Amino acid sequence: MEKTHDAEEIQQMTRARFGRIAEDPSSERKFPVGPESAKGLGYNSAEIDALPCGVTESFAGVGCTICLGPINDGETVLDLGSGAGLDTFLAARRVGPQGRVIGIDMTPEMVCKAEGNRRELGMENVEFRQGSIEQLSVEGNSVDLVLSNGVINLCPDKERVVSEIYRVLRPGGRLYVADITLEDGVDQATVERLGTWSD
Ligand SMILES: C[S@@+](CC[C@H](N)C(=O)[O-])C[C@H]1O[C@@H](n2cnc3c(N)ncnc32)[C@H](O)[C@@H]1O
Repeated sequence: MEKTHDAEEIQQMTRARFGRIAEDPSSERKFPVGPESAKGLGYNSAEIDALPCGVTESFAGVGCTICLGPINDGETVLDLGSGAGLDTFLAARRVGPQGRVIGIDMTPEMVCKAEGNRRELGMENVEFRQGSIEQLSVEGNSVDLVLSNGVINLCPDKERVVSEIYRVLRPGGRLYVADITLEDGVDQATVERLGTWSD
């Protein structure tokens, strides 16, 4: 019989999985994580190699969001599902001291790791918040650019996420997304064979 989970169970499994990836990245067997994955997705190798291991070892993104368009001096950027902070820190370098980047993630171990990384890098224009991207703890109309790398596919209520993104973006604000999508007509057996990030 087909196995189904409610939204709360999905979030618990997601938290458990990314808690493990924060504390022991080598425990992830199914999907690529870490600096070599980032380089393969198009991040600049020298920039990745120059980051502390704590930032890159738990990278679990599925694309290079910061490659998708400009990130300008002085902008306010919001990184959804910020993990250990790789995109957050690279964006923070691009917005400079007049800009700022907020990273939001629901997994306490990831937020703790990202905050340790922030301290190690001495980045004053970065802030990490623990919370759900279905209910953003961010003022409306306050963000120039939203980054989202590999997180929306994990959210049971995708419409809510999109409406929250719309709420926080300023008029003319931008959204750079990398994610996993499912094509029409894929049957349950194929989903189970290929796996999902949250199983
Ligand atoms: C695939 S990882 C990507 C992490 C990061 N963007 C990166 O590129 O390394 C997804 C992250 O989103 C977080 N996450 C999943 N669902 C979330 C939700 N509803 N609200 C906030 N964070 C969530 C997980 O804890 C995890 O750290």
